[in-house]
Amino acid sequence: MINYSKKVLKHFRNPHNLGKIVNADGVGEVGNMACGDVMKLYVKVADDKITEVKFETYGCAAAIATSSAITDMVKGKSLEEAMAMTEAGVIDSLDGLPPVKIHCSLLAVEALREAIYDYMKREGRKIPKDLEEYHRRISKLGKSS
Ligand code: FES
Repeated sequence: MINYSKKVLKHFRNPHNLGKIVNADGVGEVGNMACGDVMKLYVKVADDKITEVKFETYGCAAAIATSSAITDMVKGKSLEEAMAMTEAGVIDSLDGLPPVKIHCSLLAVEALREAIYDYMKREGRKIPKDLEEYHRRISKLGKSS
């Protein structure tokens, strides 16, 4: 049996910001080919800030908990702050993840960055080099983490 922290179990049992934004400004969709889990993250953006965020995840408890946590963390943040979010930050906010579940946190971060990439592309904005490279790597893997 996997030992999850109380925070992970709380988010897993009662995920925050679950669902879809029909008229989203950006959508990120990623998957993990190894386990088959997938995540879709939707953002609304105003004045360079993420004003609304929702997610849909078909995945394990860690994938759902990290998705829920990252949506809480990113709301109201600037695009720059959102792009700087890392797996380690999300894992810390949940008081850790069991070692075998660390990789699951990648889905949430990838989906967030892909949603920002999608937003910038739709807006015709200059995409930062790091984000472009990140997107290219994800695309090459066939939406895989
Ligand atoms: S086992 Fe697939 S994301 Fe956790």
